[in-house]
Amino acid sequence: MTFDDSWRAVSVVPPLAAGEVHVWCEDLSAASPWPPADVLSSEERAQATRMLAPGRREAFVRGRSALRLLVGMYLDIPAARVAVRLLEKGKPVIDHPGEAPPLSVSVAHSGSVLAVAVTRAGDVGVDVENEARTVDRMAIARRFFTEAESASVESLGVSAFFALWAHKEAMLKAAGDGLTVPLSEVEFRIDGRAAPKLRRVPPSYGTVGDWTTRPLATAPSMAGAIAVRGGISSVHCLRWTGAFVSS
Ligand SMILES: CC(C)(COP(=O)(O)OP(=O)(O)OC[C@H]1O[C@@H](n2cnc3c(N)ncnc32)[C@H](O)[C@@H]1OP(=O)(O)O)[C@@H](O)C(=O)NCCC(=O)NCCS
Repeated sequence: MTFDDSWRAVSVVPPLAAGEVHVWCEDLSAASPWPPADVLSSEERAQATRMLAPGRREAFVRGRSALRLLVGMYLDIPAARVAVRLLEKGKPVIDHPGEAPPLSVSVAHSGSVLAVAVTRAGDVGVDVENEARTVDRMAIARRFFTEAESASVESLGVSAFFALWAHKEAMLKAAGDGLTVPLSEVEFRIDGRAAPKLRRVPPSYGTVGDWTTRPLATAPSMAGAIAVRGGISSVHCLRWTGAFVSS
C-alpha cells in the first residue's frame, strides 16, 4: 500500500493542541505486524472470540491494540491501563478522569487499512472506504442517500459515491449512532471534485454549524473522511514508526 505523501512518519507522539485532530493510518497487510503487541483487556478478548469471521476478528484485535497503544502514549500510561468503554451503540470512548478536555477517538478499517482518529476538539468519527470494491453504487445511493445526493452520484460517478459514503459514516460514527441512524439523515452536497459540504443534520445533532468535516486522502483508491462535533484548527495525518510501550 502506498500512502499519500501528506502522511508524516513519526516516532514521538506530537503534542495534541486543543483544536487539532490526529489521524493515524497503517497498512495491516505489511510484512511486519502492526501494532506489535496484543494489549486487549479480558472483555475485549472475549468480544474478539465471539467474532466468527477470522478477518473481522484480526482487524478488531489489531485495531483495538493500536487504539490502546496510541492513546496510552497521549495519556502517558501503559496501553493495558487505557480504559476503553463502549457507548450503547458501540462507539469507543476513553475514560480518563482529570483529562480536560477529554480525548475523543474513532476507529475505521477498510481492507488492510486501519485509521485511528484522536482529538480533544469534540466527538470524532473517521471512515475509510476502498473505492476499488465492486458495488452497485446507484442502487445503494437510491436506497440510502437523499435524492440530491443520488443525482450527484449519477453525474459524478464512483469517487463521489465513496466520498459521500465516507463523510456520512464519519458523521454517524462521531455522533455515536453508527448505521443505526439512516445515512440519508445527514445530507452533503458534492460539486465536481470539491470535498462534500455538510447541508443538513437531524435535530438531535444540533445544527450544521456545530460540525466540521474533512476529506481524508489515505492511499490511491481509498476514500476517507473525518467528522468532529465542534470546530477544528488542523488535521495531522500520521504514521507511527517508533516503539510501543505496552505495559
Ligand atoms: C459503526 C459502524 C457504522 C461501522 O461500520 P463498518 O463500516 O462496518 O466498520 P468501520 O471499520 O468503518 O468501523 C468500525 C469501528 O467503528 C466503531 N464503532 C462501532 N459502533 C460505533 C458507533 N455506534 N459509533 C461510532 N463508532 C462505532 C468501532 O470502533 C469499530 O471498530 P472495532 O469494532 O474494530 O473497534 C457499524 O458497525 C454500525 O453502525 N453498527 C451499528 C451498531 C449497532 O447496530 N449496534 C446495536 C446496538 S444498538
